[in-house]
Amino acid sequence: MANGLSPGQARAPGPTYQEIIQRDSSQPPAPFLEYSYEFLGDADIPYRHYTSREYAAEEFEKLWPRVWQMACREEHIPEAGDYHVYDIGHLSAIVTRTESGTIKAFYNACMHRGTALKPADTSGWCQDFRCPFHGWTYSLDGELIDLPEDWDFPHVDSESHRLRELKVGIWGGFVFINFDADAESLEEFLGVLPDHFKEFGIENRYIESHLCKRLPVNWKAAEEAFMEAYHVKETHAGGAEYSEPITTYDIFPDNVNRFIHTVGAPNPRMPEQPSEDELMQQLWGRRATAQGEIPEVPEGKTARDCYAEVVKKQLGAQYDQDFSSYSTAQTLDSIEYFLFPNFFIFPGLSLPMAYRFRPDPEDPDYSYFDLYMLRPKHPENTPPPPPEPRHLDVDDSYTLETGLGFLGEIYDQDTSNMAAQTRGFKACARGAQTLGNYQECRIRHLHSRVADYLED
Ligand code: FES
Ligand SMILES: [Fe+2]
Repeated sequence: MANGLSPGQARAPGPTYQEIIQRDSSQPPAPFLEYSYEFLGDADIPYRHYTSREYAAEEFEKLWPRVWQMACREEHIPEAGDYHVYDIGHLSAIVTRTESGTIKAFYNACMHRGTALKPADTSGWCQDFRCPFHGWTYSLDGELIDLPEDWDFPHVDSESHRLRELKVGIWGGFVFINFDADAESLEEFLGVLPDHFKEFGIENRYIESHLCKRLPVNWKAAEEAFMEAYHVKETHAGGAEYSEPITTYDIFPDNVNRFIHTVGAPNPRMPEQPSEDELMQQLWGRRATAQGEIPEVPEGKTARDCYAEVVKKQLGAQYDQDFSSYSTAQTLDSIEYFLFPNFFIFPGLSLPMAYRFRPDPEDPDYSYFDLYMLRPKHPENTPPPPPEPRHLDVDDSYTLETGLGFLGEIYDQDTSNMAAQTRGFKACARGAQTLGNYQECRIRHLHSRVADYLED
């Protein structure tokens, strides 16, 4: 389009995200004020990247065995002998805590004849890893410590048949694994993440709820449903839109991107700017418990700031903590960082999620979505242990999980788009999709990283 700008330079009319948060009464965290956009081209992306079994097979061969993936939280395996099984495609890892307290991960396969030592996606405690087939037994450190009828195996010793170890890294209370022995360190892979999260204390969170839902779309398209706010007006709109998300999109080398969007900032496209009281009205409608008088916004204050105070008090009472030091932006806004290839983390207070997506190993049209709610730990009380995940099938509504509040309905709206996309990918005469240069830049970033691994 002829607007005199080079591709990727155009921005939505009105203030930027950074300009909005600088009007808040509290100082936003420094990383929120950064810009890091890069134009990555505007070529179409073929639908076969989502639908083709060959493409999925290439991903399983060249991508998934070589990238860092979040396997669990540290609190899933607090004691020696606790283990957690992480499956990706046909690969499977046992993550465990050893006697010395360190965390190790092993290929979940017996060194005798390959039997999986633990069933898929399970967790539990054991003294050692004993194979259910012939009873070969490995210590928590992976050493072969018992070989029944060893007279028949003079060619096997405790070292030659140790469990094969995987790389492990820990960040923010998350345990990451990598199947590639030559992979770069987790620290290098994380790029700006540790620095950006310095003041968010992600390691001091606990899992309040965990959903695992089967989604009717390829894993990349499932992630992409959460990478742009462009769809919000059409998919999630309802009622008077005094306010609309104002979003910053950023791409950081090599594996991180993010969006942050405002909650409760005035919609710059309205012919007449809404009053702060009208904005408050809309914010109030979002509340899980939207009862009580809508507070009036005092002269000279913004609805955003007033509503953030309400949220901090409400969550403070609910979790018996003091959240008064959180800025308005960190309290209200949707702050979503993505770590390639399949992990999202939200450091905000009222939207405190982490997401993990995994492909269905048998069918590229389906994927699995882990949705965690991560609340700040109480400074003194011990948090409850991580809950068992609640499994939802394709047609099960997120609203079955009442803890999600107003988000349940929103996630359902996203799921129906996913099913429609899967149908359309195969029906579309163009055979490829077109992306917006700015608002959909994270989607392009994801595809370009996938291509880096597939072409390598
Ligand atoms: S396959 Fe594991 S002991 Fe035989
Ligand atoms: Fe959505």
